[in-house]
Amino acid sequence: MEVNSVESLPSDGPVWAIVLAAGSGRRYGVHPKQYELLGGERVLDRALGTCRAAADHVIVVLAPGDEAIGEQLVADGAADAFVIGGVERSDSVRCALANVDEEAAVIVVHDAARPLASAALHEAVVAAVHAGAEAAIPAIAVIDTIKRVEVDSDGTPVVAATLDRRELVAVQTPQAFRAEVLHRAHAHATDATDDAALVEANGGRVVIVAGEVTNIKITGPEDLAVAAVLLASLG
Ligand code: C5P
Repeated sequence: MEVNSVESLPSDGPVWAIVLAAGSGRRYGVHPKQYELLGGERVLDRALGTCRAAADHVIVVLAPGDEAIGEQLVADGAADAFVIGGVERSDSVRCALANVDEEAAVIVVHDAARPLASAALHEAVVAAVHAGAEAAIPAIAVIDTIKRVEVDSDGTPVVAATLDRRELVAVQTPQAFRAEVLHRAHAHATDATDDAALVEANGGRVVIVAGEVTNIKITGPEDLAVAAVLLASLG
């Protein structure tokens, strides 16, 4: 796709949000985690509700077979459109990007698996892009000691190195991007566990904003239990 230079385009136009819910939930177990109930509401609905309030347009990405759910979400006004995602997370982002209007100035990508991200966090990453950043992502300090591990010749996992955690952060979504920066990062069908990594690989400058310790990702059933406690504590 042909894009203008980053400097030439304003970023104070419409904000589009892409909410990713096309994961199969292989690591979660039987039910896809995005449809589990959290405080009486589906995990996906919570994530969508916050995006709805913070963005002008919302596209939700669903797994094949979830078309009826998508139609209902659009009928209810929870999303403007739904698309069916791809095999990997980055494929799903690209499925949505193909449906984002050319007028979009800022694109926010959010994992439905993070239902507790606050409206303030959405506003913070968008504000950073409005203030001039190409990309802005939330991150929190790493509190555990992190080690790199390799497997010995006899198959035993052993420590290869201890990393300096003062240099490390744990990254979350929502992640906000100047629209053309995100399109350019996805112009080649590469894969990454987040969109910022693709921007970085393209030489882009990614700004960090303060993340939220309560903004956990639902990966296993135990995370849902923790999220329920956090939700109650958030009030
Ligand atoms: O698998 P993981 O937890 O990293 O997924 C992060 C988010 O990306 C989830 O909300 C999941 O539904 C979404 N996803 C997707 N399409 C895929 C894989 C994951 O929309 N192919």
